Amino acid sequence: WKSLDDLEMAEKRVLVRVDINVPVEDGRVTDATRIERIAPTVRDILDKGGKPMLLAHFGRPKGQVNPEMSLAQVLPALEQALERKVVLLETLEAAETLSAEAEAADVLLLENIRFYPGEEGNDPDFARRLAALGDIYCNDAFSAAHRAHASTSGIAQHLPSCAGRLMQAELRALEAALSTPERPVGAVVGGAKVSTKIALLENLVNRLDTLIIGGGMANTFLGALGADMGASLQEPDFYDTARDILAQAERAGCRVILPQDGLVTREFAAGAAHEVVQLGAETKLDSDQMVLDAGPASVEIVRAAFEGLKTLIWNGPLGAFEIAPFDTATVAAAQIAAKQTIDGALVSVAGGGDTVAALNKAGVADDFTYISTAGGAFLEWMEGKTLPGVAALNGSAA
Ligand code: 3PG
Repeated sequence: WKSLDDLEMAEKRVLVRVDINVPVEDGRVTDATRIERIAPTVRDILDKGGKPMLLAHFGRPKGQVNPEMSLAQVLPALEQALERKVVLLETLEAAETLSAEAEAADVLLLENIRFYPGEEGNDPDFARRLAALGDIYCNDAFSAAHRAHASTSGIAQHLPSCAGRLMQAELRALEAALSTPERPVGAVVGGAKVSTKIALLENLVNRLDTLIIGGGMANTFLGALGADMGASLQEPDFYDTARDILAQAERAGCRVILPQDGLVTREFAAGAAHEVVQLGAETKLDSDQMVLDAGPASVEIVRAAFEGLKTLIWNGPLGAFEIAPFDTATVAAAQIAAKQTIDGALVSVAGGGDTVAALNKAGVADDFTYISTAGGAFLEWMEGKTLPGVAALNGSAA
């Protein structure tokens, strides 16, 4: 694929697909990493005389306009990272009117692209309509490259296309650290997006020596083994998938580690009263009890597992890291991995919006070998899959 250096940008309208799907609480961005990492691409385009219009999604509005998922929430953080004004275009019609006249100094941002059903459906007419807003397409959204959507894939058929700086850097770094990883290789997979990630594990276990499962993902596995997880975040629709993964891991010789204890509470709140409960197939929680973090015995098991590894990939926190004390296991495990990395014993690569936020909170993000902005895309890349957003750049219009 081409880079920003291969296309003439001067006076050109450049459609830049970025991923600024960042954590927001009470309308404020709590971790701006993804926003900061796309800034060099936008600045480069401006320096080359191009007129950037950013295309981005926020959350999963499922093709409906939803004010709670407006990109207006990330606008201040975006303007701060880019050090210039960003104009939010609330509709495609507004974008169509403005894209022809925009001042080169203004960065344009189209409102949440997932408000349109044509985006996730990769509708060819929608992709064509988007493409008409620009002269060049630049994809800098590595973390959304596992989605074959109109703005990540379909659009490239209609415009000369290139990869942005972050997309290039991500692919290079992952290739360098993980294309032939030193074994044993382990992964931590946690977080709340169970349905998005669980199917990936079936292939991933073939490439791993150890898989440590945490968060909502672990609750789903424990539920699949027969535990009554009470009000814990889990997705029972995936119990069969979880059992298949455990069987596949056994065939592939991959050790799967589930939490053996957890911090259990009746209230999802910072500082909520909690107790340590043993977890396993026999666990029976009350219907209002939930596991919000892995417990101390599980952290020791994670420590021992990390010590046996040469390469670690990490996607998804082990608990509700955003509210203390349910960040304890994630912070402890992050610090263990960071120390081993500093000691030269471990290559550690972490990815995903929440994971990056958790490692920042633990104060160790800079100590990891590489931090990717991607979560699901990173895992699919790790599985050996060709990502549609990357493939589209190779087969682009010019
Ligand atoms: C992410 O947060 O991993 C990306 O922005 C993709 O989001 P999605 O899982 O909703 O497609």
